[in-house]
Amino acid sequence: MPAEESLAQIAKEVSACQKCALYHSRKQSVPGEGPADSEIMFIGEGPGFHENEQGRPFVGPAGKFLDELLAAAGLERPKVWIGNVVKCRPPGNRDPLPEELAACNVYLERQMAAINPKIIITLGRYSMGKFMPGAKISGVHGQMRRVGERFVIAMFHPAAALHQAALKPAILHDFGQLPKLLEQARAAQKRSAPAAAEEPQEDPKQLNLF
Ligand code: URA
Ligand code: SF4
Repeated sequence: MPAEESLAQIAKEVSACQKCALYHSRKQSVPGEGPADSEIMFIGEGPGFHENEQGRPFVGPAGKFLDELLAAAGLERPKVWIGNVVKCRPPGNRDPLPEELAACNVYLERQMAAINPKIIITLGRYSMGKFMPGAKISGVHGQMRRVGERFVIAMFHPAAALHQAALKPAILHDFGQLPKLLEQARAAQKRSAPAAAEEPQEDPKQLNLF
């Protein structure tokens, strides 16, 4: 796999993918969308009815609410990446099965490698489970955690907050904290960047030796 393969190449493979049974019932696969230099990746569960029709992530009611949440965080949708752990709609919006999550995981891994975001934000329990197995959303939501090399924040799923009014203030608050957390993630990555990246270490006199 090249270090920086293109998102378009991954999307092309997703559109033809038959690695799990979900390809039988999909109308359109939903690879996810957003620029390759996105600082933030939002990862939901899987396409629903509207996403399956349009081939785009979060375009139904949950997507409308996500747009509001992005605005609360001062973020513009075209500047962030938005996608899902499974790229094809589970029939009737049932939960994705373990074998479907496992089969589709490689695409998300490649998308993360291509984008190398400052922060990953999980929306819902399946994407949270990928990074924080066993975590309880009520205990961890809105907190930035280091998972390996990455910073990850688990958020309530926008659809859950739409259906449970009590979650709405919490998810709005968590998104409101995002600008501050993004600053922290940027600062942490600058600190851990090798000094050589900032200043040339070579003695200029040595450079013409060969
Ligand atoms: N819910 C999700 O988890 N993902 C979508 O793309 C739409 C709704
Ligand atoms: Fe392939 Fe993922 Fe769609 Fe399954 S859900 S067919 S693994 S793209």
